[in-house]
Parts: sequence; C-alpha cells; structure tokens
Amino acid sequence: MAAPTVLHRCSSSISSPATRQLRRRSFHVRFSDDRQALFSRIAPVYDNLNDVLSLGQHRVWKRMAVSWSGAKKGDRVLDICCGSGDLAFLLSEKVGIDGQVIGLDFSRKQLVVASSKQEQRSNPCYKNIEWLEGDALNLPFPDGHFNAITLGYGLRNVVDRERAVEEMLRVLRPGCKASILDFNKSMQPITALFQEWMIDNVVVPAATQYGLAEEYKYLKSSIQQYLTGKELELLALLSGFSDAKFYEIAGGLMGNLVARR
Ligand SMILES: C[S@@+](CC[C@H](N)C(=O)[O-])C[C@H]1O[C@@H](n2cnc3c(N)ncnc32)[C@H](O)[C@@H]1O
Repeated sequence: MAAPTVLHRCSSSISSPATRQLRRRSFHVRFSDDRQALFSRIAPVYDNLNDVLSLGQHRVWKRMAVSWSGAKKGDRVLDICCGSGDLAFLLSEKVGIDGQVIGLDFSRKQLVVASSKQEQRSNPCYKNIEWLEGDALNLPFPDGHFNAITLGYGLRNVVDRERAVEEMLRVLRPGCKASILDFNKSMQPITALFQEWMIDNVVVPAATQYGLAEEYKYLKSSIQQYLTGKELELLALLSGFSDAKFYEIAGGLMGNLVARR
C-alpha cells in the first residue's frame, strides 16, 4: 500500500521560506495503489479525453470552481488532486506572480504532464506553481497555511472522503474557502438517467478509442457511491466548516461545493 513520497519540482519552482521548509520535510503517505495506477494509466490522454467528453466545457466549470474559491492576488493557494494541472493554472492566473500555487497529486505521471505543460506555456505567472507528489489524506502542510483550496474531480476518488475534508479544513486559514468540483450525484431521476446514458454511450465508447474502456467504466459506480449535494454540505459542516453551499452546474450533471472555514 504505502509508497515513499517524493517532492516533484519543475525547474521554475517557487522558493519562498515556507516552500523551502516543505522541501526539507520528509513524510510518509498512505494511499490506494490501484487508484493511483488507474490515474497514471490515464495521464497521457487525460486532457484530450476531457476536451472530447465535455466538448471543452470542463474548462468553464473549472473557471467557476476557481472563482468560488475566492483566491485573489498574492494568495498562497492549493489545488488538491491536481492531475494535469488545469485548476492550478487557473489559480496561478488569479493569484499572480506574487502569489503561490501548489498542485498536489499522488500520481507522478499526472504531475509530469502538468510540469511539461508549465514549461511549454509562456505566461510568466505560471512560475508561481510548484508540483508536489503527496496524499490528499495526509497533506504535508502546517495548519492554516492556505488562503484558498480547489479540488477538482478528486473527492469522489479518494478512499476516505471525511479525512480529505478534515485535511482541507486543517490547512485552510480561518475565513477562507475550499471549492470542490465534481460530477453531481443528482436527486433528479431524469438527470441521473441522462448522466448514466452519457457514460455508457459517450464516455466509455470514447475511452475505448484510447484503450481505456475499463478505466472509465468505474465512473458510473463512483458517482453512484458519491454524495449528493446536501450530503456534501453536511459532510463539510460536520467536519467543522462554518458554512457550506452546493451549486449544481451544467444542468445538474456537475456540482460544486463551496465550504468556508
Ligand atoms: C479525475 S483526476 C482530476 C484531475 C484534475 N483535478 C482535473 O480536474 O482535471 C483525479 C486525480 O486525483 C488524484 N488522486 C486521487 N486520490 C488521491 C489522493 N489520495 N491523493 C492525491 N491525489 C489523488 C489522481 O491521481 C488524479 O490525478
């Protein structure tokens, strides 16, 4: 189960005192090997598939998630389960060159994709991003470290959601927000049926073209086992967030929880 954690840095990594402290720190993580392997297999085609499957709309939903996080110029912010880095890049633009962004994921292959995108992109503010290999269930940061957190399509995938939410609460500053984007487990039968139809008839066939049918079949069951918007609000409140509001987006196919510490 356990694997050693390695800090992954790109050549343009940030170098604040806090980050240097993190680099020195050695820590152990516990995570699910099969999920990690799944996301590593998907990594080379993950961006392409997202564009194809959402007709590019995932970029709009991610912008909304970043906006809801409340991140602003100069902030230190965290994108958990960053994958190939879409949300981290958007956060980087929000906080600017004087801010700091950490993208954390337990799949080294996803981080390599994120890091190479960073090297290819010319926007100077992207120098404020550092990629870190680590576990969402055991965040390698001190309490109250971040002004905002995003988590895109990750809470549904972690093996212990309560723990992930508690960790987000811990590393957020009081008054700051976590913005959690994912598929919506809709209570509307029509929406739920449409979502399942899309997965069976669009997502899995498209993934099959990339040789990833099995990897994407898990999507339907993972949404069924996920939490509804109301349950997510309750989870955040029971974990200690002072306020939690869930927004349905994309006609109820997606949802975004905004929780304030
Ligand atoms: C569906 S991808 C989402 C990537 C990105 N946030 C996005 O929205 O495009 C889920 C990511 O969560 C990561 N992940 C799952 N469980 C994790 C954990 N316990 N700790 C760190 N990363 C995890 C996977 O490696 C994968 O990159």
